[in-house]
Amino acid sequence: MAAETRATAERSAHPATPEQAAELIRSRRTINRFRPEPPPREAVLRALELARWAPNHHLTEPWHFYLIGERTREAIIELNAELVAANKGEEAARDKRESWSAKPGWLAVSCDHSTDELQAWEDYAACACAIHNLALYLWSEGIGVKWTTGPVIRDPRFYDLLWVDPDIETVIGLLWYGYPDETPETHRRTLDCSLVELP
Ligand SMILES: Cc1cc2nc3c(=O)[nH]c(=O)nc-3n(C[C@H](O)[C@H](O)[C@H](O)COP(=O)(O)O)c2cc1C
Repeated sequence: MAAETRATAERSAHPATPEQAAELIRSRRTINRFRPEPPPREAVLRALELARWAPNHHLTEPWHFYLIGERTREAIIELNAELVAANKGEEAARDKRESWSAKPGWLAVSCDHSTDELQAWEDYAACACAIHNLALYLWSEGIGVKWTTGPVIRDPRFYDLLWVDPDIETVIGLLWYGYPDETPETHRRTLDCSLVELP
């Protein structure tokens, strides 16, 4: 085989079999209950490196990732407890403080603002693809993720805690990650509920 042809063949060789790809995609679950030990930082950095390979129109690379350390995490937990207390009372706030304190790994993802409506829409889609890249890769390392979009991520004080300027970026999710203590079951409707075949 000529060297050039061989190089092309090598490039197009898939690193995962279709069965492995299908299993990774199908088995990933949103994890609510984690084991306490945080995954290694290197695993998260590997996932973030891969997140950036998501498709993004015009190569805007609109995503920003915020690795949340202990002090910031505690401040977020308190801020969230305050919001919950105002809405649902002190007992609910205490429960939330407890459940959020048990999340081992924390990061937030934001998306650049765009004055162009179509660009903004597509940039958000790209960020969602990036988050899914991250989640799928972490899953391949046995690490689960929960993407949450609760009210706290829209609070101006949350932006202050992340040092994010809300005129420049929108926080689109808080991601918790860790080794699953429990992997829930879920379901999907059958494909024919979503599929339209055109002539
Ligand atoms: C944009 C987005 C926002 C989400 N926000 C929340 C959330 O705030 N709280 C929550 O419990 N789950 C949230 N989820 C996770 C979904 O509830 C979860 O994906 C869904 O139940 C399907 O489960 P699976 O991820 O295990 O397939 C969010 C998912 C996406 C894509």
